[in-house]
Amino acid sequence: MKLAIPTESQPGESRVAASPDTVKGYVKKGLEVAVEAGAGAGAFISDDAFSAAGAKVGKAVLKDADIILGVRRPSVAQIKQMKSGAVLAAGLDPYGDRPGLEALAKQGVTAFAMELMPRITRAQSMDILSSQANLAGYKAVIDAAAQFSRAFPMMMTAAGTVPPAKVFVMGVGVAGLQAIATARRLGAIVSATDVRKATEEQVKSLGAKFVFADVADAATSGGYAKELSAEDKAKQAALVAEHVKGQDVVITTALIPGRPAPVLITKEMVETMKPGSVIVDLAVERGGNCPLSKPDEIVMHKGVTIIGTLNLAGKLAGNTSPLFAKNLANFLDLMVQKDGSLKIDFDDDVIKGTLVARDGALVHPMFQGAK
Ligand code: NAI
Repeated sequence: MKLAIPTESQPGESRVAASPDTVKGYVKKGLEVAVEAGAGAGAFISDDAFSAAGAKVGKAVLKDADIILGVRRPSVAQIKQMKSGAVLAAGLDPYGDRPGLEALAKQGVTAFAMELMPRITRAQSMDILSSQANLAGYKAVIDAAAQFSRAFPMMMTAAGTVPPAKVFVMGVGVAGLQAIATARRLGAIVSATDVRKATEEQVKSLGAKFVFADVADAATSGGYAKELSAEDKAKQAALVAEHVKGQDVVITTALIPGRPAPVLITKEMVETMKPGSVIVDLAVERGGNCPLSKPDEIVMHKGVTIIGTLNLAGKLAGNTSPLFAKNLANFLDLMVQKDGSLKIDFDDDVIKGTLVARDGALVHPMFQGAK
């Protein structure tokens, strides 16, 4: 059985879908591993390191591969090299543009979108959203601190007292929780908000203040949030408008699967913030929580810096890449048998939940209906 790790095709993607450790594990299972030359460069993993782990490093790794791993959706040119029946597991951006997914189906690839991993205890070790968002939440705070015109911790000096920065985290999922923890470690006074009531306890346990508009709990059974009603959106906006005025740094991370990110901090609200304040919009890839943020730009609006860096997780590839690789290895454990053969249990909830293409068609329930 041949397993291939191609170079990521999307510009600026620094991560790679395998690490020397995961390669060693695959080889031990009897898989033949082929890594495209240079695939690990962005994550500072050399071809030699992959070779030493037992991989064959070379070109054109896709064409006879039975299993292909990726961080992001492969390019159409890469898809065309895949053989029919090959298994692909990657972050496939299942809510993104359809033609790329249709190309995978048309090629006969059995494709798994890792973003659709069910939020069940058994699948935690395979959850790429979680492993990557955690580091992205950390990086958001570090980037904010780098742009902020003042310090985060309180300092008592002979010349006077430096007050602690006030940091507000909007959206307390995986990224938000790490942002709270990081901002606290840097000495900031932290507050946070979410529309899932379960987050209140988590926020408080990290020593931050919970700011909650009196809205209906928007938690879904899948662990995500759903969109608020118009009335609840208005309540939340009023509360946020009041709170944001006194904040120095705002980190927004709010997402709703399959929907544009909710607008939480409007232009008018930004204009109430003190000059020198900073906003980091982690949701910029899905339209942004702040309408002023721009993908991969740092925007200055009336003295407020708005950071819209894309792929923050990729900026810490030294950590995120091996974690991503391990998520994929844990997922493959479900289908690669001890003797290296492939056996897929299509009734397994984890397999069913992530399978997007099989036998020439897009098969995930999310594709039924609307085209
Ligand atoms: P996410 O990235 O989809 O969203 C980020 C946060 O934004 C969520 O907390 C969401 O409630 C919040 N949000 C959405 N709309 C909002 C609004 N209008 N205002 C304020 N906040 C809003 O979520 P993420 O980080 O992927 O995880 C959500 C939950 O799933 C977490 O509680 C996490 O612990 C849980 N989880 C469970 C796993 C498992 O059991 N296998 C694995 C990973 C996460």
